[in-house]
Amino acid sequence: MTQSPETRFRTSLLEENDGPPVNPTDNRTMGEIIAARFSRRGFLKGSLAVSAIAATVSPLALVAADDARATEGSAFKFDELEAGIDDKHHVAPGYDADVLLRWGDPLFADSPGFDPTRQSAEAQARQFGYNNDYVGYIPIDGSAEHGLLVVNHEYTNPHLMFPGIVKTVDKDGKKAAEVAPLSREQVDVEMAAHGGTIVEIRKEGGKWQVVRDGKLNRRIMSTTEMALSGPVAGHDRVKTNADPSGTKVIGTVNNCAGGVTPWGTYVMAEENIHGYFSGELPEGHKEAGNYKRLGIPEGAYEWGAHYDRFNLAKEPNEPNRFGWIVEVDVNDPNSVPRKRTAMGRFKHEGAESIVAEDGRVVFYLGDDERFDYVYKFVTAGKFNPNDLAANMDLLDDGTLHVAKFAEDGSVEWMPIVFGQGPLTAENGFASQADVLIETRRAADLLGATKMDRPEDIQPNAGNGKVYVMLTNNSKRKADQVDAANPRAENAFGHIIEIVEDGGDFAATKGKWEVLLKCGDPSVADVGATFSTATTANGWFGMPDNCAVDSAGRLWVATDGQGPKATGRTDGLWAVDTEGAARATSKLFFRVPIGAEMCGPLFSPDDQTAFVAVQHPADGGDDWEGFGRPSYYEDPSTRWPDFKPDMPVRPAVVAITKQGGGKIAV
Ligand code: FEO
Ligand code: CA
Ligand code: CA
Repeated sequence: MTQSPETRFRTSLLEENDGPPVNPTDNRTMGEIIAARFSRRGFLKGSLAVSAIAATVSPLALVAADDARATEGSAFKFDELEAGIDDKHHVAPGYDADVLLRWGDPLFADSPGFDPTRQSAEAQARQFGYNNDYVGYIPIDGSAEHGLLVVNHEYTNPHLMFPGIVKTVDKDGKKAAEVAPLSREQVDVEMAAHGGTIVEIRKEGGKWQVVRDGKLNRRIMSTTEMALSGPVAGHDRVKTNADPSGTKVIGTVNNCAGGVTPWGTYVMAEENIHGYFSGELPEGHKEAGNYKRLGIPEGAYEWGAHYDRFNLAKEPNEPNRFGWIVEVDVNDPNSVPRKRTAMGRFKHEGAESIVAEDGRVVFYLGDDERFDYVYKFVTAGKFNPNDLAANMDLLDDGTLHVAKFAEDGSVEWMPIVFGQGPLTAENGFASQADVLIETRRAADLLGATKMDRPEDIQPNAGNGKVYVMLTNNSKRKADQVDAANPRAENAFGHIIEIVEDGGDFAATKGKWEVLLKCGDPSVADVGATFSTATTANGWFGMPDNCAVDSAGRLWVATDGQGPKATGRTDGLWAVDTEGAARATSKLFFRVPIGAEMCGPLFSPDDQTAFVAVQHPADGGDDWEGFGRPSYYEDPSTRWPDFKPDMPVRPAVVAITKQGGGKIAV
């Protein structure tokens, strides 16, 4: 249902994906069938029984497990940072954390400087975009000190971007930003601030610099022309008045975590697409069920008031043209980005990839919604390392799979293929295009496991494992607990580790276990499973993005901590996954209040960690107690007080070790 502009609040952007779950199926969680279970870890130890009902997990049992696995300290030798809350970013002692790019920074030789009081779409199109999430690095001539940085700009916070927008509280008492009515000019700035940035960077004298005249520098925006390719291209369900061919889309939105392919292209995941659409579908329209499964239209943005393509009454098929993985050829600044429909349509988060033994390429994909699914896509063709151009259409042909996690610690990757199993005309599918447009419904019918908000998923070539970040799910009830989602009201999230059969990332079966249940381990009811070597600074909640360094070690970035949730801001933690230190975590970097931690990314030589500080200063009440007026409550003093160095601009930060060397040894 669309709210009127006067009452529209962008709550979903303040607390991501906090709307009602939209998975209506009753392909039930395994906890309803199995009254009790042994945790995979406990089962292997042969001693630790853990009930299916999280509330009855014995904290003593968990402590016992921790004792058993914490016989040595973390393998990460940096001095741990102290957790806390303030308005600045902080890094562990002995490191520098330098801002490389902020919202509004010039990207081209002719870019105007940042001036928040005189914003325009034209200026924004030549500047770094808003809310940086995914960060990738594509080396130039194989260099670890000269390359292209690719950065997703996920969404916009008009209350932080534009003067005069009032922070308020919605009817349910939640913090919210009243965003209406934005002018068309402000909407145009928003559209230009979305998408992605491709920018040449170079390390000189130990510090990274932006190369403003880089020939490949480019902004991708919500106004950039793109192609639909793969099985859905040209289908009736993606044809619009503006594009009767069903092959040309204007723009991309909500690009969250993403990836860089083995052949050096940049892939952007379209996540929370539902917010951009408003208006009512015509009565009885055939896409009503499809859109309901994705929460479309949410109407959080006002784009539909100014552009027909975001108004369902005018372009009812347009939402079928969003929710895809977008691939960008970074070596040609005029290339047309391609929405690769073979990889499915859902609230895509992350597209990290790895080359399987036989040369096929495997992409791990999350669908970030409560009770939605974990996917992987396996290309039909093989990667050609000797001719990168030969790989440019690999993503148009392959098999999308969805995960079913079993109680016995096995996982099955079920193919999502028209004509197989329930994916037939009987269930309303006439082709693979239909199956892909309604990927979630296809996965529902296959009986996939409903997860606690799958975010970034990272394969690790070093040890053959795959790490799945499950950020939280406060809506999971005790009778919905299952082995892979073992806590009711899962406020702090967990991390699952998968090992594919035979170490083959393209395998259709594997084994899994819970690596870590997150949250404060000193609070017994939380049921967190950090090792006892983890300090009071070292635990975290809400895992979101992650990275593996070239030594094969896991680093986890969080989204959603803060004064009320955990008493600490989001940040980047180093997590041991092997040996006796397994499940030990150490704090390395933390963000200013209100921000989430994105990226992270290690340079190929491990001497730089790039991190993305997204929406610093969001969550107005959190500013109280820090001795400065809230920007939200007093717009008349907000912008006059503005100083460029205030931590209110999303930024990519480059972390290096003082004196040089690898980040962590
Ligand atoms: Fe955009 Fe799922 O975080
Ligand atoms: Ca995320
Ligand atoms: Ca996030």
